[in-house]
Amino acid sequence: MYQKSIIFLTIILTSLRSCSSSYPFDPRYDHSMSPNVYYETNHQHGHIKRNHHHHAYAPTSSPRAFNVNAFGAKANGNDDSQAFMKAWEAACSSEGTVYIVVPDNRAYTLKPVKFSGPCKSSLIVFKIYGKIKAWKNPSDYKERRFWIVFHTVDNLRVEGGGRINGNGKIWWAQSCKINPELPCLGAPTAVTFVECNKLMVRNIRLENAQQMHMRLQDCENVKALNLMITSPGNSPNTDGIHVTGTRNILIQDSIIRTGDDCISIVSGSENVRATGITCGPGHGISIGSLGANNSEAYVSNVVVNKATLIGTTNGVRIKTWQQGGHGMAKNIIFQNILMKNVTNPIIINQDYCDRPESCPEQKSAVQVSNVLYKNIHGTSSRSEAVKFMCSKSIPCRGISMQNVKLVHHITKQDVSKASCSNVKLDTRERVSHSICT
Ligand SMILES: *[C@@H]1O[C@H](CO)[C@@H](O)[C@H](O)[C@H]1NC(C)=O
Ligand SMILES: *[C@@H]1O[C@H](CO)[C@@H](O)[C@H](O)[C@H]1NC(C)=O
Repeated sequence: MYQKSIIFLTIILTSLRSCSSSYPFDPRYDHSMSPNVYYETNHQHGHIKRNHHHHAYAPTSSPRAFNVNAFGAKANGNDDSQAFMKAWEAACSSEGTVYIVVPDNRAYTLKPVKFSGPCKSSLIVFKIYGKIKAWKNPSDYKERRFWIVFHTVDNLRVEGGGRINGNGKIWWAQSCKINPELPCLGAPTAVTFVECNKLMVRNIRLENAQQMHMRLQDCENVKALNLMITSPGNSPNTDGIHVTGTRNILIQDSIIRTGDDCISIVSGSENVRATGITCGPGHGISIGSLGANNSEAYVSNVVVNKATLIGTTNGVRIKTWQQGGHGMAKNIIFQNILMKNVTNPIIINQDYCDRPESCPEQKSAVQVSNVLYKNIHGTSSRSEAVKFMCSKSIPCRGISMQNVKLVHHITKQDVSKASCSNVKLDTRERVSHSICT
């Protein structure tokens, strides 16, 4: 009898243990009891005290959670960035899977912060349940182009359903695009990832960024999923997701409503897939601009699949600078796209020039080649829905259109005009009769 009950107990304990480790750990319900180590800030001495009470009982594989409140974050409108930095340092120097928890129903204010790697941990999960707001005073942004930065962090996940709000209003008012009398100094990108490998950002709202909402720079193996990015249609330069020098990236199931490009993909980016994207207001999905100041630019293997563009100034755009530049934008597919009242639904613009005087024509240009437009439907706000303004010296090559039908938003008539310079279509199947014949 005694032996029997011991065996019984052992079975229960074993099954409990395997049960708890097979369920995903959810730190939301774990604010008071950290799984195996918890930390208390020692306010008198300003250092962090470790407490190992639970350690002996917890399986060593169970993840550790670092709640920003435990590091002194107050969510009272004062700057919480020191507490966030301490939580980051603690997580980054721990082994295994670690969680940084930003609790729900609180709004934390951050000055510019930089979360740097490399970290000891095998996975860092930044769980944002609550809200993170940007510090309002621009003069406290020493590096004017950054607010929240993740630098050289591998195996990072940012998620949790919370919000990151850039408090952009004050910056927008200072933009030279809004007030031409002010100097063009630029403004911070809300969230920047630099040289991050194996990055996932999902289930986050980004709103009212100072300038760009999210920038992926020189990263590899990135997934950006279920993002909601919003700022007013008249907010200057507020790109949704900016991809630069980044390889192997999937952007999926996201809604992006801003004052500038929905997604912009620029030099050094390769294997970029965007699928299930809704854009508008804003400037649409853009490859470029490329080749500014005679620079060299390469973008290749881009697939935009299943996108809806609503009231944007462009639909799908490739944009290179007129003043020279070298390199190429090649192997690009835009497919299964719905346009609703878009001003320039399909556009290649190789004479991009943002100077007040016209830019002089140059011999060199970034070459645009192998671009497929397939299954593109909907409406254009103008009677010209397709614009291919390719370079005279280096024309567009390998441009194909299949099943492209766009009608005027009001009259519902087939678009009657297209500009097609220095381009000859490779394939042209089931395309509105007037386009680039
Ligand atoms: C191009 O060069 C000019 C002058 O050197 C500089 O002011 C400008 O910011 C550069 N433009 C870009 C897009 O890099
Ligand atoms: C269509 O787009 C044009 C130009 O952006 C805009 O002025 C107009 O209000 C839009 N119409 C509708 C019905 O959304």
